[in-house]
Amino acid sequence: MYRFLRSILFLFPAEFIHKLVAGILRLAYVIPPVRAVIRACYSVRDPLLEREFCGIKLAHPVGLAAGFDKNATLYSAFSMLGFAFIEIGTVTPVGQAGNPKPRLFRIVQDEALINRMGFNNEGADVIVKRLKKAHPAGLVIGGNIGKNTQTPNSEAVTDYLYCFDALYPYVDYITVNVSCPNVAGLSALQNPEILRDILTAIVKHRNRQIERKPVLLKISPDLSILYLDDILQIVEELGIDGIVAVNTTTQRTGLTIGKDRIEAIGKGGMSGKPLKLPALETINYIRQRTKGKLPVIGTGGVMSPEDATRLLNAGATLVQVYSGFIYHGPSLVKKINKELLKIIING
Ligand SMILES: Cc1cc2nc3c(=O)[nH]c(=O)nc-3n(C[C@H](O)[C@H](O)[C@H](O)COP(=O)(O)O)c2cc1C
Repeated sequence: MYRFLRSILFLFPAEFIHKLVAGILRLAYVIPPVRAVIRACYSVRDPLLEREFCGIKLAHPVGLAAGFDKNATLYSAFSMLGFAFIEIGTVTPVGQAGNPKPRLFRIVQDEALINRMGFNNEGADVIVKRLKKAHPAGLVIGGNIGKNTQTPNSEAVTDYLYCFDALYPYVDYITVNVSCPNVAGLSALQNPEILRDILTAIVKHRNRQIERKPVLLKISPDLSILYLDDILQIVEELGIDGIVAVNTTTQRTGLTIGKDRIEAIGKGGMSGKPLKLPALETINYIRQRTKGKLPVIGTGGVMSPEDATRLLNAGATLVQVYSGFIYHGPSLVKKINKELLKIIING
């Protein structure tokens, strides 16, 4: 069914379809009988699927990755589709348009996406107003924060703190995004010395809050082992609660399309099926290195229940999907959970 719908949706530019589908879902959400039917189709509830992540209770381990609901306009509607958690953002202090279009490309034969969106979002103040209005029961909301493109890296900490302070009261956890390859120079913030400054400042702010909420760090799959080791050390020292692994990659490994097409698409972060292995390897490494003590949300190339199971077995407590949702539709969430239930019940 979704395959047929997909063949029509994929005739149109990716960003246009994103907006269209978002609009349809928002409309469906405000009509109670339609909402009830959709919810009944997609929701999965079973005590065996429940999870706890850094003290947060979740109905099951499958969520929507950052970047889909950049402006917090969709999370309520998406709660109908059975996601246990949704990470909104990346949010920057001031709204920004992002990079020029086209900036999102499908590579259907490889079930991949390449994007160079560049943190397009409406800015923290507008987004917080929306978060204040609604928090659907049972849905866990993460807030993914970044810096404005115009802000030099030397002042990045001010941007992260602005977004942190703005979002913290209205989300269940915060993800610090220093790993997006589509904002010039942002990945350099993963440099251990700079990262330490940003995370130290954030932890200080977190420690002033009455309620302690988890702070996570989202990392790139393109980090060298040396950098990753340093980052894990900083994370441990500062008491960062967990890792979101991984963001999109600048590599083009795993694509079967020709060089010409790759070059024509140009720069951007790749996600989807070719990201499966880098995500798995990163999560495996984190588990080995931290002896399984550091909680991980696994994201990258979850296109099927088997992919989700692999990331969970590698050490992730939760998984997030993005490209898998585009290529396989909303039923992917239910399919993953059914498979997990089967595994739990059959031992
Ligand atoms: C179009 C697009 C936009 C994205 N925007 C963000 C973002 O704003 N912040 C972020 O942390 N990750 C962003 N991501 C990365 C995803 O959250 C996720 O880490 C990545 O796509 C890997 O998962 P996947 O293979 O299931 O797509 C984006 C991904 C895509 C495809």
